[in-house]
Amino acid sequence: MTETAASTAAEAFRIERNPNPATPEERAQRLHDLKFGMQFTDHMARVTWTADGGWQDRRVEPYGPLQMDPASSVLHYAQEVFEGLKAYRWADGSVHLFRPEANGERLQRSARRMALAELPLDDFMASIQALVEIDSEWVPDAPETSLYLRPFLIGTDVFLGLRPPKKVDYLLIASPSGPYFHGGIKPVSIWVERDYHRAGPGGTGAAKCGGNYAASLLPQVQAAERGYDQVLYLDAATGGVLEELGGMNVFAVRADGTVLTPIINGNILEGVTRSSVIQLLEDQQLKVVERDITLSELKEGVESGDIVEVFACGTAAIVTPVGRMGSTDFEVTVGDGQPGAVTLAVRQRLTDIQYGRAEDTYGWMRQVI
Ligand code: COI
Repeated sequence: MTETAASTAAEAFRIERNPNPATPEERAQRLHDLKFGMQFTDHMARVTWTADGGWQDRRVEPYGPLQMDPASSVLHYAQEVFEGLKAYRWADGSVHLFRPEANGERLQRSARRMALAELPLDDFMASIQALVEIDSEWVPDAPETSLYLRPFLIGTDVFLGLRPPKKVDYLLIASPSGPYFHGGIKPVSIWVERDYHRAGPGGTGAAKCGGNYAASLLPQVQAAERGYDQVLYLDAATGGVLEELGGMNVFAVRADGTVLTPIINGNILEGVTRSSVIQLLEDQQLKVVERDITLSELKEGVESGDIVEVFACGTAAIVTPVGRMGSTDFEVTVGDGQPGAVTLAVRQRLTDIQYGRAEDTYGWMRQVI
């Protein structure tokens, strides 16, 4: 969908303005010193699907609590999928999205896996256009900030029987946000999880569904108690192959410049940042190999100096260096524990494109305003 088409389609959204939007002073105060995911704009977008009527009632309404029947299926059977993408304020004041179609398509794939109605891509794009237009003042301009967009689908069927919902709501909320991890580009530590798995063959690992993230919280709490920031999961079938972190894909850089990342195998999320990073690395003449990576290969590679950098990436986390890894039977420092050159360069290149500081030769950016 072109930018003009998204603008025209956005007109299909009925606008109910927030009668009590934040004043310019309140907004300025709330946009100051932004953290991730704590502030929300004045409006949200919404489209409803029913089995009889299809997708209907496209609207932008005041941001606020949802009225929901306690028997709504999402509350019982976790019929929920979501996305995360960002709108970036460029130096000239314009606002741009990064590869939004990729998120819209992934939302459809996630919905399919959870037997939820698939939102048409045009509605996805138009909802973003409509919301970002009405809440454009909320797109922050401080370094490293953006308007984080959270589209999601929930089953709102009022029925306790277990079946695909006959009513689904699509909602889009927007959160002016700062970095996911505080304190600049600081390496994170990761706990390699042996007891719990994120996904199993034939499971929901490739879907961006809330349940995957809910199941990651107990291991995350336990890792934090052991002094680690994040958790890296291994495959459920053999217990020895890397999959991904709770909310990020993982990469390892070898001393010869080859970059390894787990292959998309149905268990891990097809990250939009992941595929962009692969493209950027290849265009820096680095060889990227997508394949199974065993934990022993990673651990021994870090110990021997064959693996010199490890990083994680995702929309919220961008590209985040890993400085230390540990588990029940080992503890290693990656390189000298500081962010590596490949990690820093790809992060810089990616954010330069996202913030309009470098030409977008890939056709990734979509102007909204
Ligand atoms: C994102 O990176 O956008 C995600 O959805 C991950 C979430 C844990 C913040």
